[in-house]
Amino acid sequence: MKTVVVPAAGMGTRFLPATKTVPKELLPVVDTPGIEMIAEEAAQLGATRLAVITAPKKQGVLAHFDPYPELEQTLEERGKQEQLDKVRRAANLIKAVPVEQEQPLGLGHAVGLAESVLDDDEDVVAVMLPDDLVLPMGAMEEMAKVRAQFGGSVLCAVEVPRDEVCNYGVFDIEEIGVDNVKKVIGMVEKPDVDDAPSNFVATGRYLLDRQIFSALKRIKPGKGGELQLTDAIELLIEEGHPVHILVHRGRRHDLGNPGGYIRACVDFGLKHPTYGKGLRHYITELLAEEN
Ligand code: UTP
Repeated sequence: MKTVVVPAAGMGTRFLPATKTVPKELLPVVDTPGIEMIAEEAAQLGATRLAVITAPKKQGVLAHFDPYPELEQTLEERGKQEQLDKVRRAANLIKAVPVEQEQPLGLGHAVGLAESVLDDDEDVVAVMLPDDLVLPMGAMEEMAKVRAQFGGSVLCAVEVPRDEVCNYGVFDIEEIGVDNVKKVIGMVEKPDVDDAPSNFVATGRYLLDRQIFSALKRIKPGKGGELQLTDAIELLIEEGHPVHILVHRGRRHDLGNPGGYIRACVDFGLKHPTYGKGLRHYITELLAEEN
């Protein structure tokens, strides 16, 4: 796996007013922006290139991977090695390459733009959404094993309560006698609850066969008037391309909305070596006061 595609050109409307000027991919979980957490996950997977889809007004996302000579020099002079390592960490993890999406025409459109940076020998591409934390890290390695066995494309899924399916891409599935792996026979973006084919929904991890780019060129705007990745996957399925899901049973945080983001901060905060103990104490006190 060489390239991981990270779509980061969305408008982040669920996180206004913060996202008026701060890209949501730069909002920190404790002290680390979502985009750096994704870079870490991609590097762990063995990828060497992060194709970051950015919007004209979201240049800060790529800047996070740039050197910062003045700051680095000051930290060096002051002997602040720990902070210096933090400044340099993102760039040391992986090489970030910008791909500009001039207008937010949808996730499918964003992913389609990444074809231009792929090498000819890359027959599969990983897509990771930076506002989606799938924990513990490592789901993509498992998905690569599923692809090695069944071929085609593999997506990560979680099971959600019925009334939440309307927020997601939902899978129509067939059991194949393997506990956490299911064959996908259809996929629909944000269906009405009554029309949803299952409770298994897409998370932000996709291992897509290169054929996805051909499908992305042939879809029309779908839900919300956007070019949907879901519709391209559905098209591939209709054409007989094998698609499977790996069902993730661990944690997942949607950093794209304040509710999910706060949970992620609490989760990572409680585990943090410096802040964990104090936070646990504070939350316990707070809850006791409320009762
Ligand atoms: P989301 O729907 O979660 O992001 O898209 P959004 O559009 O920024 O959020 P809201 O709904 O307005 O709050 C999933 C991912 O796809 C990217 C987003 O940046 C996010 O990481 N995306 C979405 C693009 O890169 N381009 C697009 O046109 C749309």
